[in-house]
Amino acid sequence: MIYRAIRPALFLLDPERAHGVALRSLALRPARAAAPRPRLATKLGELSFANPIGIAAGLDKDGRAIDGLFGIGAGAVEIGTLTPLPQPGNPKPRMFRLVADGALINRLGFNNGGLEAGLARARSARRAGRPALKTGPALRTGVLGINVGANKDSADRIADYAYGVAAAAQVADYVTINISSPNTPGLRDLQHGDALRDLLAVCDGARMAGGRTPLWLKVAPDLDPAAIDAIARAAIAGGVDALVVGNTTVSRPAALRSAHAGQTGGLSGAPLGAAARATLAAFRDATGGRLPLVAVGGIGSAAEAYARIRAGASLVQLYTALVYEGPGLVARMLTGLDALLARDGFAGVAEAVGVDM
Ligand code: FNR
Repeated sequence: MIYRAIRPALFLLDPERAHGVALRSLALRPARAAAPRPRLATKLGELSFANPIGIAAGLDKDGRAIDGLFGIGAGAVEIGTLTPLPQPGNPKPRMFRLVADGALINRLGFNNGGLEAGLARARSARRAGRPALKTGPALRTGVLGINVGANKDSADRIADYAYGVAAAAQVADYVTINISSPNTPGLRDLQHGDALRDLLAVCDGARMAGGRTPLWLKVAPDLDPAAIDAIARAAIAGGVDALVVGNTTVSRPAALRSAHAGQTGGLSGAPLGAAARATLAAFRDATGGRLPLVAVGGIGSAAEAYARIRAGASLVQLYTALVYEGPGLVARMLTGLDALLARDGFAGVAEAVGVDM
């Protein structure tokens, strides 16, 4: 309600500036434990989630609003992408609202303050996770993921991932390796062939710095069936714990209406839904249910979250819908998802995962 009132003013600002304002106000929110909803509690591997709705990477790149994002009800918050060295990203403007489409296009290019600063914030966020890493009273209400990437000018991108995974694994509940941003030239090449196998082997070793911290791999929605098959096989062989499906798309659905539709970058939000859904289904086929999947892309309602869970996702994440609907969206989705599971006779989220296959 409040967000609906302030959104017009926020949307008068340049999207990046508006995002900064929204994030600062989220950072001021207290960490507040949501009322437990037993039906929504779920697990992915060894990690326990109060609910299956997470905040996607990129919304809080530098970990400035971790407590506030848990405070709006998210079961998980993924900060990053963090790169070993701070970097400014691409020239502005580099983020565009496609209001008529409920979408964004961004070509930020991993602007972030670097791993060290992000990890320091993550450490000081109130945590109640794995006991050895506790830094304060048991206040944290969710799972903290850290998403890592390579610096644009790095001479050895795989070494950047190894460094990032080793550092983040000591702080995070899980680490995501993001090789699917369209805004760092050549990065998506790491999704294929020997490069992917080498990357996964190196990162599998690096995550031991945290005592085998779960390792997730975030892929693009723009993959052909052969690539999906190869990635699925490499991820299973490489010991990856989950696939995050997926990032923004470089494709442009014909139905886009906004003037900014031709901007270069990754498209997110409602128009990405169809491709993200199809890629999720293809990964579910390719993995045969042997690798947990996290659905991202165009999710903005309880019905859509539920559909992705039924299509094979153990968890979902969102970003763009929060820009359009505001922070209250998470609580509304939790209520709706709980009701949908109850309606269909599921005692818990896990029972609904993949039932539509
Ligand atoms: C992103 N996304 C993203 N993903 C990632 O792994 N690292 C990142 O740094 C970013 N940065 C980023 C910035 C902006 C402005 C947007 C809109 C998105 C991708 C994001 O996590 C998600 O995969 C997509 O946005 C699709 O989900 P939604 O937005 O349709 O819910």
